Amino acid sequence: MTEIVDRPAGQRVQRSPDDVEPIETASRDEISALQLRRLKWSLQHAYDNVTHYRQAFDAAGVHPSDLKDLTDLALFPFTTKSDLRDNYPFGMFAVPQSDVVRVHASSGTTGRPTVVGYTAADIETWANLVARCLRAAGVRSTDKVHIAYGYGLFTGGLGAHYGAERIGCTVIPVSGGMTERQLQLIADFEPDAIMVTPSYMLTLLDAMERAGMDPRTTSLRTGVFGAEPWTEQMRDELEGKLGIDAVDIYGLSEVIGPGVAQECVESKDGLHIWEDHFYPEIIDPESGQVLPDGSEGELVFTSLTKQALPMIRYRTRDLSALLPGTARSMRRMRRVTGRCDDMMILRGVNLFPTQIEELVLGIDTLAPHFQCVLDRDGRLDTLTVRVEGRSGVTPDQCSEAAETLADRVKDRIGVRVAVDVVEPFAVDRSEGKAKRLIDNRPKG
Ligand code: DLL
Repeated sequence: MTEIVDRPAGQRVQRSPDDVEPIETASRDEISALQLRRLKWSLQHAYDNVTHYRQAFDAAGVHPSDLKDLTDLALFPFTTKSDLRDNYPFGMFAVPQSDVVRVHASSGTTGRPTVVGYTAADIETWANLVARCLRAAGVRSTDKVHIAYGYGLFTGGLGAHYGAERIGCTVIPVSGGMTERQLQLIADFEPDAIMVTPSYMLTLLDAMERAGMDPRTTSLRTGVFGAEPWTEQMRDELEGKLGIDAVDIYGLSEVIGPGVAQECVESKDGLHIWEDHFYPEIIDPESGQVLPDGSEGELVFTSLTKQALPMIRYRTRDLSALLPGTARSMRRMRRVTGRCDDMMILRGVNLFPTQIEELVLGIDTLAPHFQCVLDRDGRLDTLTVRVEGRSGVTPDQCSEAAETLADRVKDRIGVRVAVDVVEPFAVDRSEGKAKRLIDNRPKG
């Protein structure tokens, strides 16, 4: 299957579904010019069609026509998850409901879900972007792709599905859960690639080992892992145990779903943001000030082409940094360290579950299954890392590992934590996004 596409220069060329799109390697000037044109459209579209944006822009004293260049975006107000909740369910939509062909929703931990909507053109854009991600991951039109992201209101399953179909892959729409069946399908259908959360991949890996299946002998060649934070150490674990290339895919429902940014298999150096559809900023989460590229801060995205749910300066709560392009000309985001919401503060020291993951995976006798349990002792918050020993390790090795981990946390992060090394399978297994943080502190 080939399609006719317009080159930026205007000449029409035959493109195969496996080719990189011309815009991915366009010059920065070309990308910025396209962004400016699209950003003007998006601001106007939001202002004209969504009461919330009209009121928020008016209250901030800005009008879409004030945007003369990309940096003027900083004049516009942020959008947060609570804006979506306050306008539940469809109040942020910029098109009549009859033009919305699909909704997704995130369950959220408290209160109302966040509802997102798509026109037919939005679904088209999304499928093209996930296809672009898969290509960057090294997936080809002749491949079979096993999708173990959940199908349903979560954007993971259907988002991945449409992208894989768009390239022309054979899609195996398994969804999450039913671990034994996942293994059987991997063995029998021989997929080339798997799309799944890294923590559920660990669950599958364990199950393979328990079933006497050698994970290195499966047909899998590529893992496209995302929907939760993971680390370089986890990449080594998954690549080593499965004999695959493990690459990172990022996205969030409010912005479109999976497919906002993707790591390229040839460089594995952070995720290229598809800047022709999403304009990224990094801000200081306290002051809201835009920070220069390279600084660590909160990611903010503005949609440039979305029709049903334009997102203007959406605060993701995800911490990252913007880096120059490498394998593609579009800028990269550093792998997400964690969400502001998952940051633990222990005696004045900020700490993320990913930092614990890095240290756990540096100790041979510990398995990558862990949880951070926060408690309160009097007026002091305490953290216990509950982590499994690898199968076959002795009680002595467990106590040694506990001591080593506690010392390394103290050395690297600067705070003393308790470590409880537990039996294999004592930590709940993930079937989707892992719950790394258990907060037992009294509320209020
Ligand atoms: O998790 C979309 C998705 C599905 C992305 C499948 C990738 C693969 P939400 O449920 O709205 O959407 O959750 C979005 O998940 O703000 C991040 O905190 C986190 N997240 C997503 N991808 C990554 C990643 C989907 N690669 C929230 N690394 C985001 C770290 C990620 N965190």
